[in-house]
Amino acid sequence: MMRAAAAATTMKTTTPSYSYLTARKTMTQNGTPARTIKNHQMDNNNNDRRRRRRQRILHIVSEGTGRFIVGGNWKCNGNRESVKALVDALNKNIANIEKNCDIYCCPTFLHLNYVKENLDTRFKVCAQNSWVEADLVDPEHHYDSTTGAFTGEISAEMLEDLQVPFVLLGHSERRTLLGDTDEIVGKKVAHARYHGLSVVVCVGETLEERENGTTFDVIFKQLKAVAKEIDDREHSSWGSSVVIAYEPIWAIGTGKVATPEQVQEVHSKIRSWLAENVSEDVAKATRIQYGGSVHASNCADLAKLSDIDGFLVGGASLNGDDFAAICNASSVHYKAVGR
Ligand code: PGA
Repeated sequence: MMRAAAAATTMKTTTPSYSYLTARKTMTQNGTPARTIKNHQMDNNNNDRRRRRRQRILHIVSEGTGRFIVGGNWKCNGNRESVKALVDALNKNIANIEKNCDIYCCPTFLHLNYVKENLDTRFKVCAQNSWVEADLVDPEHHYDSTTGAFTGEISAEMLEDLQVPFVLLGHSERRTLLGDTDEIVGKKVAHARYHGLSVVVCVGETLEERENGTTFDVIFKQLKAVAKEIDDREHSSWGSSVVIAYEPIWAIGTGKVATPEQVQEVHSKIRSWLAENVSEDVAKATRIQYGGSVHASNCADLAKLSDIDGFLVGGASLNGDDFAAICNASSVHYKAVGR
C-alpha cells in the first residue's frame, strides 16, 4: 500500500499502461488467459494481481443471479456492545433463515472487520461507502487512485484488501446530506467494480419529485450516471454484480411504505430502462431491491411482486428476529412468481 506522503505525487504515474476493458473482455468472452493482451506493457506483479481480481469477480458473479437478496443497512448506529448483541442475535437466527436468499449487512466502517470476523458467513458484509475524488480525471479509466493522502476516507482498494464483497453506494442520505452527486455515485460504482466489489446502488425520488411527476426523470438520470461510467468497462458483469435498490426518500425511516403498485411500477420501469439503455441480458439479471420502511409485518405483501428481487432494510435490520423474518419473505416471493 502506498504511503500517504508519497501517494499524491506517485499515484498518477504508477497506473498500469494497458486496457482494463481488453483484459476483462478477454477473460469473460473467451475464457483465455491474459496472454492475448501481450502487446501491452505489464509486469508480472500486475498480471498476477489482475488474474486474482478477475477470478474473484467471476466467483461473485456466479454466486447469486436471480436469487432474492436482502440487505441490512445499519447506518451510523451501534457501539461495541450493541453490535456484538446484533451479531449474536443474527447468528442465533441463522438456522431459521431460508437458504434461498442472499443476505448482506452494512455495519459502519469501524465495526466492519469485527462483523466480518464474527457473523455467520451466510451473511456477507457490505461497506456503506467508498470514496472517489469529485473531479477525478482519469481518461484511461484505471481508477487506481483513491488510496493515499486523503484524510478520513476509505478506498475501494482497502475494502478489496479486507475481502469485503459488497459496497453500498448512492444512498439518499449520502446524496442529500453529504453531497454525493449522480456523477460521483457513477464514478464510485465504476471504481468499486474495478476493484472486484459487488455494488448496491441506491436510487429514488423525494416526495416533492413524486408529487410533481418527475420520479422517473430523477431515477433514470441516476441510472444514466452509473451506466455512463461502467457500461463500457463492466458491461458483461453489470447484471449480477450490480444490485439496484429503489428507495423512495419519502419512505425511508418514515414508517410510510410505498404501495405494492408504486413499487411494481418503478421496478418494472427500471428494468425496461436497463433493457433499452444497457442490454436485455442485464435487465433480466439485475436484482432490484425495494427499501423504505420495510418491516416484518409488511414485507410479505411486497415480496409477492414479480419485479421485486429483495429488500434493503434500515431500522428493522437492527433487530435480529425482524431481519430474519424479512429474509424469509424470499419464500413468499418464489411461490408468488412460481419458482
Ligand atoms: P428504513 O431505511 O428501512 O429505516 O426506512 C431504509 C434505508 O435507508 O436503506
